[in-house]
Amino acid sequence: MSTRRSVFRNETVLVPEFIPSDTPHRDEQAKALEMYFQGVVEHSERMSQNVLLSGPVGSGKTMLAKKFGSSLEKRAMLYGNRVKFFHVNCRIDRSLQAIFTKGLRFLGHGYPSRGFSFEELLQSFFEALNGDRIHLVIAFDEVDSLVSSDAASLYTITRLREISQDSQVLSSLLISKTLDYLKMVDLSTLSSLQWSSISLDPYSIHQLYDILCSRSQVAFNEGCIEDSSLELAAEIASAYGDARYALDLLYRAGRMADMAESPRVAPEFVRRAKASLPPSFRKDELAYLGRHQRLILVAISNLLKKGESTYVTIGEVEKSYDALCESLGIPPNHHTQLWSDVNELSRKGIIETQISGKGLRGRTTMIGLSMVSAEQLIDELRGMVADVRS
Ligand SMILES: Nc1ncnc2c1ncn2[C@@H]1O[C@H](COP(=O)(O)OP(=O)(O)OP(=O)(O)O)[C@@H](O)[C@H]1O
Ligand SMILES: [Mg+2]
Repeated sequence: MSTRRSVFRNETVLVPEFIPSDTPHRDEQAKALEMYFQGVVEHSERMSQNVLLSGPVGSGKTMLAKKFGSSLEKRAMLYGNRVKFFHVNCRIDRSLQAIFTKGLRFLGHGYPSRGFSFEELLQSFFEALNGDRIHLVIAFDEVDSLVSSDAASLYTITRLREISQDSQVLSSLLISKTLDYLKMVDLSTLSSLQWSSISLDPYSIHQLYDILCSRSQVAFNEGCIEDSSLELAAEIASAYGDARYALDLLYRAGRMADMAESPRVAPEFVRRAKASLPPSFRKDELAYLGRHQRLILVAISNLLKKGESTYVTIGEVEKSYDALCESLGIPPNHHTQLWSDVNELSRKGIIETQISGKGLRGRTTMIGLSMVSAEQLIDELRGMVADVRS
């Protein structure tokens, strides 16, 4: 067995969920967030706050929110107040019902997930907060997906203060890439949205470089990462201003260096990482897909892997998907639903669709994978096949 040392000292520092203690170029925004909630921290029973936090992919929204949340409780305790922070991702918990049910559990109060109305759920929620004398700050991450599936949810969120009546027990932080979702709601909701707002810019190449330096000091063993590799990763990711992509490049480059038994991460590994990980492909995107969307992706990948061509027809996909469902004992969705799932996958940039020209019988939709190889996609989905069955 090889006793060769890895380039990594601690690679977990590079995973997207890790919350770094040092966050270059976001101090000002972190301070703004704390300042907006200072009233709640000091007078949690009399004050509440609502803040909008927006910024493009990988600009540090989730990180800022979680960092803020982790110190909130302690800061409030200094004033003798009980403030808790509850972070939900609205792409996973897709309705207010699901969010408040989870919230109740978070507060240590059980609630049957079925058989009660939303009003009853809200009532139990406020009773729990009042009873325990807790002020809860809820971070609704990726809130646009909640609002797009149910525009009234934003209205409900803005009204929560009124529902809570005499004492203030709830504040919110709405996180999204853009503020476009506000346009989806009617004006009466907007007027009650006199919220404070923090907006993040995409990172510049220099900012990305600083972020990579800071994270790599902990992630890599001394002397194992070349400065020119950090510069290159920053340069590649600066096209998107996306820190997640920059960190992902570095992580993959490190893994590749280890696989090649190289003692250092040279820029060539960053280039290879770039080739293996096109920016629009995000692994965590797959985790949010519905069961049938994953099955469709497996069907497409299987077909593309077998065949010579870069595209397959929607008819072929449907057949392969039906067969896959049958082999797993899952009833397949009908044509219209399949269409809508294919469209959604295309909108998310996971697949590419085109209408065929002449040559094939009539016009048909052709489906390809623009950014990943079929093999890679099957690899990524393999771990999720268990979920596909559930
Ligand atoms: N200033 C920073 N310093 C150190 N790491 C950072 C900084 N900004 C972002 N990161 C890291 O980059 C990654 C992406 O950040 P984050 O998840 O907060 O992005 P986001 O704005 O929520 O993106 P999305 O819209 O895709 O959810 C995380 O690993 C985060 O820790
Ligand atoms: Mg995020």
